Amino acid sequence: MLNTVEKKQLYIGGEWMEGERYAPLFSPYNGKKLADIPQGTEEDVDRAIGAAEVAAQLMRALPSHERAGILERLAGLLEERQEEAAMIIANEAAKPIKAARVEVKRTVQTYTFAAMEARNRYGETIPMDAAPGGENRVGYTVREPLGVIGAITPFNFPMNLVAHKIGPAIAAGNAVVLKPASGTPLSAFFLAELLEEAGLPKGACNVVTGSGRVVGDRLVKDSRVKMITFTGSAETGVGIRNQAGLKRVTLELGSNAALIVDEGVDLAEVAKRAVTGAFAYQGQVCISLQRIYVHDAVYQAFLRAFVAETEKLKTGDPLDPETDVSSLITKEDTERALSWVEEAIEGGAVLETGGMIEGNVMRPTVITNASRTMKVSCKEVFAPVVVINRIQSIEEGIEAVNDSRYGLQAGIFTPNIGHAFEAADQLQVGGVLINDIPTYRVDHMPYGGVKESGTGREGIRYSIDEMTEMKLIIINKNK
Ligand code: SIN
Repeated sequence: MLNTVEKKQLYIGGEWMEGERYAPLFSPYNGKKLADIPQGTEEDVDRAIGAAEVAAQLMRALPSHERAGILERLAGLLEERQEEAAMIIANEAAKPIKAARVEVKRTVQTYTFAAMEARNRYGETIPMDAAPGGENRVGYTVREPLGVIGAITPFNFPMNLVAHKIGPAIAAGNAVVLKPASGTPLSAFFLAELLEEAGLPKGACNVVTGSGRVVGDRLVKDSRVKMITFTGSAETGVGIRNQAGLKRVTLELGSNAALIVDEGVDLAEVAKRAVTGAFAYQGQVCISLQRIYVHDAVYQAFLRAFVAETEKLKTGDPLDPETDVSSLITKEDTERALSWVEEAIEGGAVLETGGMIEGNVMRPTVITNASRTMKVSCKEVFAPVVVINRIQSIEEGIEAVNDSRYGLQAGIFTPNIGHAFEAADQLQVGGVLINDIPTYRVDHMPYGGVKESGTGREGIRYSIDEMTEMKLIIINKNK
């Protein structure tokens, strides 16, 4: 599919449409042109929202077993075409093919969970007579779809993070206008093809590619769109919230995720796992391990093991099955990450390994002696860069982890149950991983952050709660 340059089309109201304007899409790894991508206009977004509004009525009326059936067929079709899907991700996102294959398998699971949840929506019975005046009344709740949902998705998991929005939206009986990341639109077009084949009603999922300023802004401001679900940077997330008015908004934003390593753990095993957390997909994961706080008693041994494991990583072509780390999504991101590393070193930090570009790829980089105010510590690097720090106690580690504007997930490796519970109680994050890295996610668990890491939760069941409105019904039995 990607051998010949294709001119892609917008997907609106169940029809494939030429764009008014096109922009070329290039491979982040080798600069090869992959496709011409339509740049949606305000009129395209307007048409897509109109089509979604009509389809939302249909979706709302569909029995949940039919919505579940569509999602099951979608999961089946994706499973049949999984290698093609992985190649699309590897090409457009420069995600190493072995990681792209994992993403596709997770995406199949995400749609499968969505199908399960479509069949499993329960309301509540309210004990009305618990209050005087509630006698002889029956109260119960149902959850109703919101209508049209605007989904704005990032480049880093172009299939699975789209699935985390489309899957629950369909399961709950909504219609969607999807604006995928400009860098990774091909995965979204592929999904639209599969949804069409799976029998989704026309207009229930529309794909409008183009710039955030045109397509994204229009979605956020249009009053027919009842919710925006966004994954991306904190800066864009705040902008969306400021413009969204009374719309519901869920924001999955970034982090500088941290790990505490206590004494008494298997250092070789922890170092290996931590290297995966720091460098999977070049560190371009919202829960990438960026800060490690190691107990003084094991600091040197951990650092040695971590650097040795890091130096085993193979960098290069995302299509090579041996590659662990490939190019960042843009040249600007590579230059930015490198400049942050250089700035840290000029400020007194120590480069343990990496800190250079080979071809188009930034070598996995390990830094020590970095202060908390350096960009590599306090900002989200979103690149293969990790900072290792020494702590004297678990309390100091917890304080350091919490000294962040972000709070998505954090981890602690410890054999001490007291330390584990202290971390669980004290860490200011959406998820605490005990004896694991913060870079852990399975697709049905609640996922989301505190502070500048966002608002709301994903994980199919939790997303469905966000994408529906609770309605209360009370029956007066005396009448
Ligand atoms: C993210 O980058 O927020 C998603 C991480 C994941 O799904 O593994």
